[in-house]
Amino acid sequence: MFKKKNQMKTREAASLTPRRRFLNMLWWLLGGLALAELIGLVIAFIKPGKAMQPLEGYGGLITCGQAADFPAGTVTAFQRGHFYLSRLENGGFLALSRKCTHLGCTVIWDEEKSRFECPCHASAFNLMGDVISKPAPRALDYYAVNIENSVVTVDTGKKMKRQRFSADQVTAI
Ligand code: FES
Repeated sequence: MFKKKNQMKTREAASLTPRRRFLNMLWWLLGGLALAELIGLVIAFIKPGKAMQPLEGYGGLITCGQAADFPAGTVTAFQRGHFYLSRLENGGFLALSRKCTHLGCTVIWDEEKSRFECPCHASAFNLMGDVISKPAPRALDYYAVNIENSVVTVDTGKKMKRQRFSADQVTAI
């Protein structure tokens, strides 16, 4: 009886059509690939990756350049960082958010009038970001400025709110 069963199996295997054999092989191959991919994912998950580096862009540190490149009383836009770098008359630096404190429109620096203007509801701010024309309820937000070896960097990961300008917000050389 056992011998008879084995003979039947051998006959079944021999009777597989080439198409059926091909499909069986394909299934084994696809199963093997899926297993290899799963093992790769597990290894990638377990293995420690590279340490996170601070990004050079909005939300991270932005290198602005040499302090001497920014004359007193000027404003420089940093599109990538979404801020304006103000060099005050006393030589200090302030990095101002370009977002209006009324409803969040982007303020624009007007060189001739020497002030920031909001195109949405006409708020205006001075070089330090203080409100000079409402409806904006408070001064522009600002970011931490650091000066090391005369190189100015702004940390756009640290946005600070304020009611008005005060001297302690300024970074001096
Ligand atoms: S959003 Fe700037 S004044 Fe309204």
